[in-house]
Amino acid sequence: MRIAMIGTGYVGLVSGTCFSEFGIEVVCVDKDARKIDLLHQNVMPIYEPGLDQLVADNVKAGRLSFTTDLKAAVRDADAVFIAVGTPSRRGDGHADLSYVYAAAEEIADAMDGYTVVVTKSTVPVGTGDEVEAIIRKRRPDAEFDVVSNPEFLREGSAINDFMRPDRVVIGTDCDRARAVMKQLYRVLYLIETPIVFTSRRTSELIKYAGNTFLATKITFINEIADLCEKVGANVHDVARGIGLDGRIGKKFLHAGPGYGGSCFPKDTLALVKTARDYDAPLKIVETVVAVNDARKKAMAEKVVAACGGSVKGKTVAVLGLTFKPNTDDMRDSPSLDIVPALVEAGADVRAFDPEGMEEAKKLLPTITYCDDAYATLAGADCAVIITEWNEFRALDIGRMKSLLTNPVVVDLRNVWDPAEMRDSGFTYISIGRP
Ligand code: UDX
Repeated sequence: MRIAMIGTGYVGLVSGTCFSEFGIEVVCVDKDARKIDLLHQNVMPIYEPGLDQLVADNVKAGRLSFTTDLKAAVRDADAVFIAVGTPSRRGDGHADLSYVYAAAEEIADAMDGYTVVVTKSTVPVGTGDEVEAIIRKRRPDAEFDVVSNPEFLREGSAINDFMRPDRVVIGTDCDRARAVMKQLYRVLYLIETPIVFTSRRTSELIKYAGNTFLATKITFINEIADLCEKVGANVHDVARGIGLDGRIGKKFLHAGPGYGGSCFPKDTLALVKTARDYDAPLKIVETVVAVNDARKKAMAEKVVAACGGSVKGKTVAVLGLTFKPNTDDMRDSPSLDIVPALVEAGADVRAFDPEGMEEAKKLLPTITYCDDAYATLAGADCAVIITEWNEFRALDIGRMKSLLTNPVVVDLRNVWDPAEMRDSGFTYISIGRP
């Protein structure tokens, strides 16, 4: 089996590499020659633990290669995966499908023999029909099928999520395409991974419904955290107490500053738009989007309150900028709401993130960047933790206290123990815990 993977972004690069690890011959294609050059030198365009080694191993084994030559890659492929970006369209929040459709046109022009065209990108319901129509129009006689196969990879654990998924979803009504997909996922069949075969439209919706449900779960526990603060309850225990009920499940119940990242904000919004277009509004999801947006902004107020009602002229040390740990991704990170609001309120913000600073400097250019956590804390009036990197959990609390001018800590990820922090002399504010 041979695959062409169009797009070497997060999803394309991880999926392509993992398929090659499954023993399939994979050619990853990108228009960006610089990216392909770097990949040839085993320099990853993204930070994902373990990816560089897996790429190197599979390139060495001759199963994985990189090219800008889409035509050659598609011509020789049994299956072509579209893994290009589908960002939110400026203005209306719909998914921008221009990259997907452009890829479909190029694939149409290059296909040779029966080809399964697979959409891996997150695309609104009906996009598969559109991709099929685009290809059919350009190549009326070509033998091909269009399949939906959404990804469920989390940044930071994407390789494991691909290799040992809870399930694989494949959307097609065509037996011939199904046989090809089965062959591609043979390794997962062998380890008895549930494979959900469904129609193409259903598969497209599963992706959005899944991400939206998870975003709703997070938003629910975030609101419960706010209530905990008012009534003197502990959200950590509430999450455990409800999460042990198998009907609820304990994952995605960590209260925090609001969800961010490349998927949840964009996908919740896109599903809201689709539902409105079909005159079947998803009122719960609309509320989730609004509550999460407001939450990210409200987090700065929490910091201001912890600093006695004003941060004017005060130094605030921010630990963590990425939307979650083990990634350099800043997309829709809560820090992008919190930091500007603190600057606006007159704070002098100093920040450190283990992997995200290069990207952060482009998005938050006016703040000061420090070389490590302790340097960030030195002389600050307040420390704010926005991302739960393990290295922050491991900080020496005594040293932290001696470095801060005022021992005020606002922990938006609940990484420390409230009793220990208070016993150590900190004014410690976390999320939903007394
Ligand atoms: C998500 C989905 O999990 C994945 O299946 C999909 O394919 C892509 O989008 P990702 O964006 O990488 O993955 O990160 P995830 O771990 O899901 O976290 C998303 C956001 O929710 C982060 O900002 C995270 O901090 C937040 N979150 C997550 C919480 O606030 N609490 C939780 O309990 C879980």
